[in-house]
Amino acid sequence: MTTQELKQAFEATYGKPAEAVYFSPGRVNLIGEHTDYNGGAVFPCALSFGTNLLIAKNDQQVINFKSLNQPEIISLNFDQLTTRLEKSWVNYPLGVIAQFVKRGVAITQGFDILIWGNVPNGAGLSSSAALEVVTAYAFNDQLGTGFNRTELALIGQKSEHEFALVNCGIMDQFVSANGAKDHAVHLNCDTLEFELVPVKLEGVKIVISNTHSPHKLDSGAYNQRVAECKTAVAQLNAVRPLKYLAELTEAEFKSIESAITDPVAHKRARHVVGEVQRTSDAVKALKDGNLELFGKLMNASHVSLRDDYEVTGPELDCMAEEAWKIDGVIGSRMTGGGFGGCTVSLVKEEAIDTFIAQVGANYEARIGIKPDFYIAEIGDGATRVE
Ligand code: GLA
Repeated sequence: MTTQELKQAFEATYGKPAEAVYFSPGRVNLIGEHTDYNGGAVFPCALSFGTNLLIAKNDQQVINFKSLNQPEIISLNFDQLTTRLEKSWVNYPLGVIAQFVKRGVAITQGFDILIWGNVPNGAGLSSSAALEVVTAYAFNDQLGTGFNRTELALIGQKSEHEFALVNCGIMDQFVSANGAKDHAVHLNCDTLEFELVPVKLEGVKIVISNTHSPHKLDSGAYNQRVAECKTAVAQLNAVRPLKYLAELTEAEFKSIESAITDPVAHKRARHVVGEVQRTSDAVKALKDGNLELFGKLMNASHVSLRDDYEVTGPELDCMAEEAWKIDGVIGSRMTGGGFGGCTVSLVKEEAIDTFIAQVGANYEARIGIKPDFYIAEIGDGATRVE
């Protein structure tokens, strides 16, 4: 929907005009998967699509939430702003407001809010982070709280932990807040230092393939991976003090890996240590203009997520395998948390039509689901639109 249409929808909902319009993007991660909560680096881009939030003050001492994807308006008074609802989409914006309150911000002003987004839900493109960050950005602006973009991302992450009950890393919220057009964000998830790296892909496009798989990376499977990595760290601490798996080079890992007696934790750790190295190599390859190497590292990332981290599943594996068969595909891998969701591929422009036709047909024939394809445009992070 256009901004104009959204403003009309706001007026139709609340009977008065919106006072401000905000936007925050979804993301696609190029490489560096399941490294963020292990203190490693990631390399995502903000997308040109995301979530809009329109807002106006009210004098009713309540916050009204309406999503254009949901039928009802949910109205909460000021003493309900720190309590998670049992099952509701409102937990995403509410969890963010709760973090403002927890940081000492008094909410004494009522607001009417309307939300609309075009990041496909459950596709691993961070629709939830887009919603969290747009809420954080809007409240920061409306209340004049002066948090910087990194703090807004941390607020979004904490809200995901406490209100969505997913112990996620910082990647999604960080890139939604700090992304920049035509750049990828090389983020050190331990120090939160980052570099914007230009993504210059002469004659090559980023293609996102949506498996529409019914399997989602639910909080259970995700939190289990987080816990398995902690087990690996705890067992490694018997031979070497460390906080995060990402502190180890591959050579260091090899010399002490036998300390991880839990075989599952061992595989998870091997993925993380390898992925950290691949991410660093991939960033260098992109800076050097060596796309071929970048693509090989993407493929290796998928294999490691499939075999060692076990977060791919038949749909993502099929989508990646079919992509690898096409001439003109530089690299292809699952992106985001995994299980269902999307792959990300670098595809030469002249091969894109063939890619979409053949990968689409072969995926549908093997899996029985019609996939979707998007050519990604790298956009900016959170912003006030009007
Ligand atoms: C999800 C989480 C991120 C990150 C990825 C995997 O998107 O929200 O923090 O862990 O999975 O890389």
